[in-house]
Amino acid sequence: MPDERQQPVGGRTFWRGHLHGHEVVAVLSGIGKVAAATTATCLIERFGVQRIVFTGVAGGLAPGVRVGDVVVARHFLQHDMDASPIFPRHEVPGYGRSTFDADTALTARMVLASEQVLRGLPARLDAGVMNTFGLEAPRCHQGLLISGDRFVSTTAESQVLRDVLPDALAVEMEGAAFAQVCHDYGVPLAVVRTISDRADDDAHVDFPRFLREVASRYSAAIVEALLVQR
Ligand code: ADE
Repeated sequence: MPDERQQPVGGRTFWRGHLHGHEVVAVLSGIGKVAAATTATCLIERFGVQRIVFTGVAGGLAPGVRVGDVVVARHFLQHDMDASPIFPRHEVPGYGRSTFDADTALTARMVLASEQVLRGLPARLDAGVMNTFGLEAPRCHQGLLISGDRFVSTTAESQVLRDVLPDALAVEMEGAAFAQVCHDYGVPLAVVRTISDRADDDAHVDFPRFLREVASRYSAAIVEALLVQR
């Protein structure tokens, strides 16, 4: 942001400024549900944000959700929440529910922004990078995103998640925490994730390079497309 200023809170650096005419607070969530919940709470309590847009990466679970595709969350669930037999598996105690929803209107705008970016993607990414990661004709999916405090990196574990939660499109480590905090405060949330791996035995391969050369570019382009929308 041309006018960005840093503000440290709770061990995080929050960047305040303006982007395409919007007042923006940008911050790294931190990895995992606790870090994510703290970051979301700070954004709302300390910075008074009126809506939250989250970008990052995820492991593809559903068939057809491939590396380089994008998943826009409609709903969120914590796949490692289990207070059974006191509460049904996955139910968040005290809420009577296991899923939280993304904001419909903000998410619809996120889908438009993501589709627009995917259409122009080959022009934005280096051909070598597209080949290295086998990216071709990336697609935008919408649906259930699941979160837990584990990097899923075995085929056996991702198969268990598919068996238990057949609707899940992708797995990551923060979205459902943001969704629960945003539900508590009534703050609209939209989450978009670039698929970096298939949450299988190869999940770690070239992960840092994917973040650097692919996912960060998707995120920047999608946020920009979202902010310039009228
Ligand atoms: N984020 C990106 N890939 C992931 C995976 N396989 N498991 C959890 N979080 C992820």
